[in-house]
Amino acid sequence: MLSMEHLIHDGALLADRVAVVTGGGGGIGAATAHLFARHGAQVVIADVDAGLAQRTADEITTSGGSAVPYIADVRDADQVDEFARWVLDRFGRVDVLVNNVGHWLHHPGSFVDTDPQQWDELYRINLHHVFLVTRAFLPAMIGRHRGAIVNVSSVEGLRGYPEDPVYAAFKAAVIQFTRSLAVQVGGDGVRVNAIGPDVTETLQVPYSQWLSPDEQAQWPQWVPVGRMGVPEDQASVILFLASDLSAFVTGHTIPTDGGTGAAGGWFRSSRRAGREWTNRPIAP
Ligand SMILES: NC(=O)c1ccc[n+]([C@@H]2O[C@H](COP(=O)([O-])OP(=O)(O)OC[C@H]3O[C@@H](n4cnc5c(N)ncnc54)[C@H](O)[C@@H]3O)[C@@H](O)[C@H]2O)c1
Repeated sequence: MLSMEHLIHDGALLADRVAVVTGGGGGIGAATAHLFARHGAQVVIADVDAGLAQRTADEITTSGGSAVPYIADVRDADQVDEFARWVLDRFGRVDVLVNNVGHWLHHPGSFVDTDPQQWDELYRINLHHVFLVTRAFLPAMIGRHRGAIVNVSSVEGLRGYPEDPVYAAFKAAVIQFTRSLAVQVGGDGVRVNAIGPDVTETLQVPYSQWLSPDEQAQWPQWVPVGRMGVPEDQASVILFLASDLSAFVTGHTIPTDGGTGAAGGWFRSSRRAGREWTNRPIAP
């Protein structure tokens, strides 16, 4: 294991580690792939979008890092098994796995209007692949008594999400899978943690396009740290959980939300003289 001094001063938190990032072509996954490579990892970018995977890998290699794209739909068990064989044949090991793929898919309205096919789609894009990809790589980690898995859940797995209880249920399941697997494999040298992002501009939540300039000026009211998140905000916490800096941390989910979880229903407000906060926003 690297010494803490080395970790802090050399900036190479993942030197010589092989790191798989699912959904590494865009958004949080791409930022994670970039940051991992800057910290010395050999990054494998698994993405269903060939163009995104290639572009992110090219950006990394152009700037001196190590990255290879691999085209796979992580919802497909055969593709996942083939992917794992490819990684292990090529690199001989895997040190870090980031299960980053996930999507809200649609805003279904009322739960009573949803159907089993929609539930199944949400299950496959948010939870099933976490099982598939983890099962595919975990034996190699256990075999070397070394590995770090980081699952990307959501703030919606930590709080009530009225827009889609089914999505929230699967994201909460990622957190419970993280916790339980961490206990199971803790003695095998494998750590398992998660993050719970909120309000981070990416391909699937393009706030800059969704919000008018007036609305964007409201970020300080909505988020305690005063701004929306960017993918790098998530990537840095994923790096922490993937590296030896968190060697004594397992089974946890870090809310990466700019403080929205801590705030609960509290918002900054300028509507009441002498009172900076309200839990009763007049025009939410
Ligand atoms: N952005 C946020 O504010 C936010 C909030 C909560 C949770 N999350 C979670 O963060 C994770 C990353 O989301 P993002 O916002 O960066 O998304 P994104 O849409 O920007 O990126 C997702 C990436 O995954 C790839 N992908 C999609 N389906 C795939 C599949 N079946 N197989 C392989 N690759 C696939 C896409 O091509 C894309 O490159 C997700 O699990 C999401 O639920 C994000």
